[in-house]
Amino acid sequence: MNPMGHDIVQRDVTVRRVDFGFDEHRIQHHFANGDPVMSHLLAMLSGLFPAGEDFFVRSVRAYRNEITDPELKRQVRGFIGQEAIHGREHRHLNECLAALGYPTGAIDRFVNWQFRLSERLPGRSRRLAVTAALEHYTATLAEVLLTDERARTMVDPEIRNLLLWHALEESEHKAVAFDVYRHVSGNDRVRCLVMNTTTVGFVGVTVVWTAASLARDPATWRHPVRVLRSLAGVRRSPWLTAAVWHRLRDYNRPGFHPDQHDSTAVLEQWKATLFGDDGVLADQLDPPAVAS
Ligand SMILES: [Fe+2]
Ligand SMILES: [Fe+2]
Repeated sequence: MNPMGHDIVQRDVTVRRVDFGFDEHRIQHHFANGDPVMSHLLAMLSGLFPAGEDFFVRSVRAYRNEITDPELKRQVRGFIGQEAIHGREHRHLNECLAALGYPTGAIDRFVNWQFRLSERLPGRSRRLAVTAALEHYTATLAEVLLTDERARTMVDPEIRNLLLWHALEESEHKAVAFDVYRHVSGNDRVRCLVMNTTTVGFVGVTVVWTAASLARDPATWRHPVRVLRSLAGVRRSPWLTAAVWHRLRDYNRPGFHPDQHDSTAVLEQWKATLFGDDGVLADQLDPPAVAS
């Protein structure tokens, strides 16, 4: 039990050193099934992950000497290890996407600048609350990918596998930053306030950077009707359903905890599919996975 009176649930946060071999010559320009808007949206998300994940790690690590619960300490080590490897592999993908004309380098510099700027302001627990809020976003979107076949339409199998591996681990560690926040602060009013401001920032960054990325793609201007059709199709995206929105907003309910969205069965299924004996990524692990 932590000092705020909450039990820390035991969970596996396994660090898997997966090594992907991206090759820009093998990746179709609009790699999300030929859909321009989804391709730019996914490239933008990949662009912001490494700097974002570095920030998450710094925010959680800032409290590592204050975490007394041994189970939570172990999970924090797993969280830091997982996020570090996500950042590394997304950087590899982002280099390929940059070679295909996506502005992943500019997105990375912008996000890094934003987070570094926020770290100059006082408020260590606010940064942790931002991390917990964004981890709720990543886990929710990850679980859409893991549970909705329509979300897994990426043509390039290597990109699909990267996103599935990342999604699996986001779901595995979805409560770690939240539990650290409860452990060291637990202020629910601040947590919800920060979620609201983070939502404005995250949605704003996503829309502006996806639009900018599309605008500098020559294919957008060569095939405007295709882009308009793709834009109209966004309404049918599995990531933009009312259920996803309600689940995101659930975070602001008093007494919310990420484990209330039970993902045990889906995690077991994807662990076996990706890393079981015949798992599609089992031979890309180097060295074999380490349970934290
Ligand atoms: Fe991650
Ligand atoms: Fe994460």
